[in-house]
Amino acid sequence: MSSALMQNYGTRELKFERGEGSYLFTKDGARYLDFGMGIAVNSLGHCNPTLIEALTDQANRLWHTSNLYNIEPGEQLANKLVASTFADRVFFCNSGTEAIECGFKAIRRYFHSKGQSQKNRIVSMSGAFHGRSLAAIASAANPAHCEGFLVGDPGFDQAEFGDLESLLSVVTQSTAGIVIEPIQGEGGINVADIEYLKAARELCDSHNILLMFDEVQCGIARTGTLYAYQQLGVSPDILATAKGLGGGFPIGACLATEEVASALVAGTHGSTFGGNPLATAVGNAVMDTLNDPDFLNKVRELGTYFKNELQKLVKRYPLLLKEVRGLGLMLGLYCLTDAGQLIARLQEQKLLVVKAGRNSVRLLPALNVTKNEIDSAVKIISKALLDIENS
Ligand SMILES: Cc1ncc(COP(=O)(O)O)c(C=O)c1O
Repeated sequence: MSSALMQNYGTRELKFERGEGSYLFTKDGARYLDFGMGIAVNSLGHCNPTLIEALTDQANRLWHTSNLYNIEPGEQLANKLVASTFADRVFFCNSGTEAIECGFKAIRRYFHSKGQSQKNRIVSMSGAFHGRSLAAIASAANPAHCEGFLVGDPGFDQAEFGDLESLLSVVTQSTAGIVIEPIQGEGGINVADIEYLKAARELCDSHNILLMFDEVQCGIARTGTLYAYQQLGVSPDILATAKGLGGGFPIGACLATEEVASALVAGTHGSTFGGNPLATAVGNAVMDTLNDPDFLNKVRELGTYFKNELQKLVKRYPLLLKEVRGLGLMLGLYCLTDAGQLIARLQEQKLLVVKAGRNSVRLLPALNVTKNEIDSAVKIISKALLDIENS
């Protein structure tokens, strides 16, 4: 049967019928080890029983009311996020893109509310990815994503990721905000240097600029702290989060300080579904599980183990692999061979991973992955590399 879907994702042959923990199963029973997890979304694996319980319990009581009414699980989740981060306020939405959009709007509205509307430009980084809305593509300025979509000057400037000189050269009196992914995901698992982030924070403080972190991919315990910034020693004024926060149920959130959030007064922003009871009930269950010192320690421990194992492969296959990058369970294998070819071979051997940047393989297992599952993945990667070397 031909597909009625728009062809923006191209054609996809592989399809799954069910999931359990780190595994996905096809209709005919083939089992795949999933180290992509819906691109860092299924933070607690597939069909996690705690999340199923939270979702079905909420589904049996109340699905949706709109933001015309107070939503109790949303209030609870916002309190949890505020209690564990720099933030004083939370806006809920349904995706990473929407969390970014709220952050960008907050930046502009903040200066507008202070009578400084001319301070309205936002600096983003080379290699960034902030989503697919017009503002998100304009900010990231990836030509492949922008072609045919943008008109006029959307108000963004670009600096080289991790390059302070470049940042200093694009900041002007009109700069209102700087947006950085502490670890770029789509860009190829690029970890921002701590000194660079500190300098960016100082620049923002001295030039009256708001610092926004996009932790849509690297947030929610992926790196072994609830948010990556918490181990990089620099706090933002605004933070976008999504993906793993719902463990597979769509949700996004924009976190901000009181100072910034106060600019978004009643009527300035909104969402029909944002903070919906189903999404926030699941979000609470995710937070209750992940935001626990033992759980976070385990992520760091497994991340270190996985990284060491991958580094052994880099040593064993120096002509095929350049290096391993990343933190916690957000790891990237920077390839010297064609990453696409390696990914195809891994898929043949029933390991699912995701491409990133120009030539990297992204490894984003469930955060409750086991050591045995990591060993299985390493074995499959090693075999695929050996096959490529011998071919
Ligand atoms: C860092 C980052 N920001 C924003 C987004 C956009 O999120 P969404 O696809 O949920 O709109 C993504 C998605 O991959 C992302 O990785």
